[in-house]
Amino acid sequence: MRRRIVAGNWKMNTTHSEAMELVEGLKANLTEDIVGETGVIIAPPALFLNDVVESLVENEFIAVAAQNCHHEESGAFTGEISAPMLASLDLDAVIIGHSERRQYFGETNADCKVKIGQALNNELAAIYCIGETLEERKSGQFMEVILKQCAEGLEGFIAEDMDNIILAYEPVWAIGTGEVASPEQAQDVHAGIRTWLAERFDSETAENVTVLYGGSCKPGNAADLFAKKDIDGGLIGGASLSADDFTAIIAARTNA
Ligand code: 13P
Repeated sequence: MRRRIVAGNWKMNTTHSEAMELVEGLKANLTEDIVGETGVIIAPPALFLNDVVESLVENEFIAVAAQNCHHEESGAFTGEISAPMLASLDLDAVIIGHSERRQYFGETNADCKVKIGQALNNELAAIYCIGETLEERKSGQFMEVILKQCAEGLEGFIAEDMDNIILAYEPVWAIGTGEVASPEQAQDVHAGIRTWLAERFDSETAENVTVLYGGSCKPGNAADLFAKKDIDGGLIGGASLSADDFTAIIAARTNA
């Protein structure tokens, strides 16, 4: 089902006490009025997931995601974290294929496909990230890049699987740069993704998939982005590290 979602990707930020303080800040801020129909997800560092989930047991608004998972179920992969481990903490979702994973850790679309499979097999929603680099944007070939990421990352999945896959369009040139995509640029890409989904699956699936925008989304620009018909919400980096900024973005989604 297509949902309005605001997700916060904390990346490799916060110490344990800072993470718990941020969660407390969000718990205090988020009321029925602010959240409305918006799905709120936070993705803290893996090390703190258990404590975060426990501190949210009584909270009805905030779901928790991991930032990554390994492509194997278990085994000799020192330092890695598997989807079954995440599922055993009662997590709701896992981010897959973030551009930083692609750029710094060499993850490919084919890797993402296997990881999405791991997520779904373990009853975790997958938040699959796609998006072009600045060079690809400038070359004019960006839509081909994005649709290739969709085609290869979603290879083999069927329409029903898309109930548990959220797409996040994150242009690499907008991530952490302060240079947000214009609402029109983002809307064009989201519409193109939906056209592709209709061809690859069917028109009902294309209508129902949640497609988020990420990249320098802040309280000051969120409402204009969320006003576009194919932008269902945001995947927020920097601004999700402030309880008040993240709350303002959630309110913008609820009120758009
Ligand atoms: P920023 O909001 O800091 O640009 O990060 C976006 C992002 O990468 C979320 O996954």
